[in-house]
Amino acid sequence: TTKVYQEKHRPQFHFTPEANWMNDPNGMVYYEGEYHLFYQYYPDSTVWGPMHWGHAVSKNLMHWEHLPIALYPDSLGYIFSGSAVIDYENTSGFGSADKPAMVAIYTYHNMEGEKAGRNDFQSQGIAYSIDKGRTWSKYEKNPVLKSPGIRDFRDPKVIWHKESKKWIMSLAVQDHISFYSSSNLIDWTFESDFGKELGSHGGVWECPDLFPIKVDGSDGVKWILIVSIGDGGPNGGSATQYFIGDFDGKEFVSTEKDIKWLDYGRDNYAGVTWSNVPEEDGRVLFIGWMSNWQYATLVPTENWRSANTFPRELILKKENNKYHLNSVPVKELELIREECYIIPNQDIKGNFDVANAIPFKAIPIEIDLEIVWDEQPQKFGIKLSNSVGEELEAFYSGVDESFTIDRTKLKDSSFSDAFASIDKADVSCKTGIKLQILIDESSIEVFVNGGEVVVTDQFFSTEKFDKLEIVSGGNISVKEAKFYKLKSVW
Ligand code: FRU
Repeated sequence: TTKVYQEKHRPQFHFTPEANWMNDPNGMVYYEGEYHLFYQYYPDSTVWGPMHWGHAVSKNLMHWEHLPIALYPDSLGYIFSGSAVIDYENTSGFGSADKPAMVAIYTYHNMEGEKAGRNDFQSQGIAYSIDKGRTWSKYEKNPVLKSPGIRDFRDPKVIWHKESKKWIMSLAVQDHISFYSSSNLIDWTFESDFGKELGSHGGVWECPDLFPIKVDGSDGVKWILIVSIGDGGPNGGSATQYFIGDFDGKEFVSTEKDIKWLDYGRDNYAGVTWSNVPEEDGRVLFIGWMSNWQYATLVPTENWRSANTFPRELILKKENNKYHLNSVPVKELELIREECYIIPNQDIKGNFDVANAIPFKAIPIEIDLEIVWDEQPQKFGIKLSNSVGEELEAFYSGVDESFTIDRTKLKDSSFSDAFASIDKADVSCKTGIKLQILIDESSIEVFVNGGEVVVTDQFFSTEKFDKLEIVSGGNISVKEAKFYKLKSVW
């Protein structure tokens, strides 16, 4: 554990930059045993500024090695969000048959253009690396896709579409997603638009991600389109919605009318999935930025700002002819589990002080609960507290069938009016509930019923939480209750 990771509020098992400002995860790609993570980075300050791509790699999604900055702003502009792919067939000509290029596709944000009041200041550029992402060359004829004169024209996510043997780019264009195709990552052709009349439009559309996914337990395949929106999330501020549909290489069609949220918490934004995960692995792996534009630049961390969510696997479920995208922590979580404390099966009424029973500190921790009941409890969940009277609660309520994280009982959330919040998600648990909860120094992620509903929230307590209780307003019976001490990954 390095010294910087001892700072107040510093996450112990989530990715954070060593110092300074981070926002969206970018260019996640798997190549030769390494998961790459690039990210929106401003190396000169703890607030947003001229954007670079920071870089880190991991062999197991848990332990990260920080690498030098991958992409610096240039005369065309700041380097905004985007993606990376391995060009195995050398369609671009940047690599060779035995040394395929890693190609990054990103947005140029031209400040001079924006200041001059032009509307074409966002365009797409590409860069490539033939040494496993360690050094990068920008394509000399950038940009490869110029703005049609729409202010918001950004965040290219590129995939290889096997059936049509073409690259497909999803691009966020103000209030919709545009799809472009290319045979070489350089020349792009407009294919279609999606979403003007569908989904939530409480804010600008950003960071799209289109990918196929197997229907769990069957051979069927559907396509998911993830779209982040800058404002108007289910509990306020920035959030991520998704659409389920089909894609034929040209058009994405979704017949579902209801709005679907990937996460109901306030702190999971701009997330996308890893490219080039080996077929024999087959997982769809996701990571998001664990913050919210409402207060991201104001949170009380000193030397760095922002963390990512815990990496998640996305699983498409089909039940009663309806599709639903579940998110669960990646199985590599096992690697950071230490001691385990188990509460024996029993009936509980009222509160149960766990911190007194477990032989380790309350945080960082993983809590796995499987609870059954005859009658839905008025309340069931966990409560963290400390000696200065701060509390954080995460609980199910049978009264209105919802799951809530309440972070209003922290002493000092004065850094932003938008922070203190009660974040709620509808979920019906007639006969019991399964909860998997990951708690780090300043974040809580709750996966309800196998990730059917997820709530991710940051919290900043003035003192560390050292008391952990199970709170129960009703008669519940414990089928499983495990508490894992989690190791620092730094
Ligand atoms: C999303 C976003 C992207 C943009 C980037 C700039 O959080 O606004 O749309 O590319 O951040 O840093």
